[in-house]
Amino acid sequence: MDEIKRRRTFAIISHPDAGKTTLTEKLLLYGGAIREAGSVKAKAGRKQTTSDWMEMEKQRGISISSTVLQFDYDGFKINLLDTPGHKDFSEDTYRTLTAADSAVMLIDAAKGVEAQTRKLFEVCRLRGIPIFTFINKMDRPGREPLDLLDELETVLGIRSSPVNWPIGMGPDFRGIYEVYKEQIHWFRPDNDHESKAKAIDSQIVKLSDLNTLNELKDSASQRALAQFMAEFELLQAAGDPLDVERVLAGNLTPVFFGSAMNNFGIEVFLNEFIKLAPPPGARKAKDKTLEPEDKKFSAIVFKVQANMDPMHRDCLAFMRVCSGEYEKGIRAYCPRKEGEVRLNNAVHIFGRDRVTIENAKAGDIIGVVDTTNSLRIGDTLTQDPAVEYQRIPRFAPEHFVRVSPVDPTKRKQFRKGVEQLSDEGVVQILVPPGNVDSSVMIGAVGQLQFEVFEHRMNTEYSTPVRMEKLPYIMAKWVTSGAEQIKSARKSETMYVEDRNGSPIVLFGTQWAFKFLKEDYPDAGFADTIE
Ligand code: G4P
Repeated sequence: MDEIKRRRTFAIISHPDAGKTTLTEKLLLYGGAIREAGSVKAKAGRKQTTSDWMEMEKQRGISISSTVLQFDYDGFKINLLDTPGHKDFSEDTYRTLTAADSAVMLIDAAKGVEAQTRKLFEVCRLRGIPIFTFINKMDRPGREPLDLLDELETVLGIRSSPVNWPIGMGPDFRGIYEVYKEQIHWFRPDNDHESKAKAIDSQIVKLSDLNTLNELKDSASQRALAQFMAEFELLQAAGDPLDVERVLAGNLTPVFFGSAMNNFGIEVFLNEFIKLAPPPGARKAKDKTLEPEDKKFSAIVFKVQANMDPMHRDCLAFMRVCSGEYEKGIRAYCPRKEGEVRLNNAVHIFGRDRVTIENAKAGDIIGVVDTTNSLRIGDTLTQDPAVEYQRIPRFAPEHFVRVSPVDPTKRKQFRKGVEQLSDEGVVQILVPPGNVDSSVMIGAVGQLQFEVFEHRMNTEYSTPVRMEKLPYIMAKWVTSGAEQIKSARKSETMYVEDRNGSPIVLFGTQWAFKFLKEDYPDAGFADTIE
C-alpha cells in the first residue's frame, strides 16, 4: 500500500515550444535520472531528447511517440508519460492519458492558452483527471498573470488557484511568492543553469522579512515588488482557495509560475505537485471497481509499437499496471483473445536504452516484449478473468488517402507494414465493400500521422509508398441502420468498413452528412468507436 501511495503517474501537455522538453529535462535532473541538462536536449539547436528517439522526431523537432520516464524524488516514484505536443497526435495523447493519474499543462507566459493546449486540455477533460498548470518563461516579457488566469477560465472553462505568484516578469522577474507558505524565493539570474544539477540558489525569505533583502534596493526590484503587492491584493479577493477535492475532480487547476530554462520554480512545483497529485486510484472494469492494492494483477495496454529499436526489431506493448503486481514471467488472461498471455520480458525504455523490469506495481508503466505480436491497444491483461477494462476509443479520421507501394513487387512487405501501423493506431485501414483494388485506403485524425506512416513504411519496411489524397473531410461510424446506408447512393459520401468490419461513412462536406442523416433518420452515428 505504501509503495502504491508513493507513485505519481502523470503526463505533461503543451503547445510545441512552450518548454516541455526543457521542463522534462529539469524534472529528470531533480530525480537524478540524468546528471546534466543537455543529455536530454542537444545544445546545438537540434532537438534530440531521450524520449524523441525517432529519426523523424529529431528532424522535425516534435515529439511523436509517447514513452515513460521514471525517477525517484523525495521518496516518491514518478512515472512521467511523454505525450506528443502536436494536435495531430491528440488520439495518441488520449491513449497515453488513459495511463495517467494527472496531467501538467504547460503554458508559455507570453502566449497563453494556444490551440494545441486547448485541444489537449479537452482530451484531459474527457478523461476527467486533475490538471496542474505551470506557466513557463517568466524570465521573458509575457502576459499579465491575472490575465493568464482569466484566460484559463474563459477559454478552457476551468477555475484556477495560484499556489505561487510571480514577482515581476521578463527582465524584472525577481522571484515567486509561495502563497501558502507565505515565503518568497528570490531569483538570481545565472548563465550557468544548463550544467547545474540543482536549482539556482534562490534566497528564501518570509514575506514579513522582505525588508532584510539587500537585492530589493535596485529600481527594477522595487518595481517588480510594487506590481506584485498590487496583484496580490486582487488575488486574495478574486482567486479560488486551493480546494483539494475540486482539484482531484478536475474542476480546479493549481497554478505555478516559473522558468524551466532557469531551473526556477521547478522545485517548488515538484514539491507541491507530489503532495497534491493523486496516487494510483481505483479503476472501473465493467461492473467491478478494482483497487490498486487488490492482490490480482491487472493492466491495460495503451500503446503498442514495433521496431522501436532497430537493434531489437520487436514489438512492445506498453501497459499501465492497474492492480496487483507484475513479476517476470507471470501469466495473465486477455479477454479479447480469450486466452492467456505470458509476460516474460518487461522493460523500461530510456532513450535507446532498455532495462529489464523484475517487478512493477499499480501505477507503473511497463513495456512488455510481445514476441507473437498479438496484443492490441485497449487490451486488458488480468489474473481475474471477470475483469475487463473499458476499451480505449478510436477517434473518427479526418484525413484520407489511397496508398500503394511504389514498387509493386513489395506487396507483402507493404501489407505487413500497413497492418502493423494500423494495429499501432498510426493510421486506420478503411475497406470499401467488395474491394479488389490493390491499393489501400487509410484514414488519420491528423495529417502528420500520414507523414509518420510514410516515414516508417520507408525506414522500417523498406517500402516507399505513393499516397493520393481523397476528397473526404470527416467520417462517422454507423451504430445502427448500416444495411440501409450501405446501399444508399449519395454524392460526396462513401460507405466503407474499418479493419474490424465496423461500418463507417466518409463525407466530403458537413452537408453530405446532414443530408444522409435526414434521409435515414433512424440510423445512428458516432465519432468514436471502442
Ligand atoms: P517544447 O519541448 O515544448 O517544444 O519546448 P522546448 O523545451 O524545446 O523549449 C522551446 C524553446 O523555449 C527553447 O528555445 C527553450 O530553450 C526555450 N525555453 C524553455 N523554457 C524557457 C524559459 O523558462 N525561459 C526562456 N527564456 N526560454 C525557455 P530554443 O531557442 O528553441 O532552443 P535552444 O536553442 O534554447 O535549445
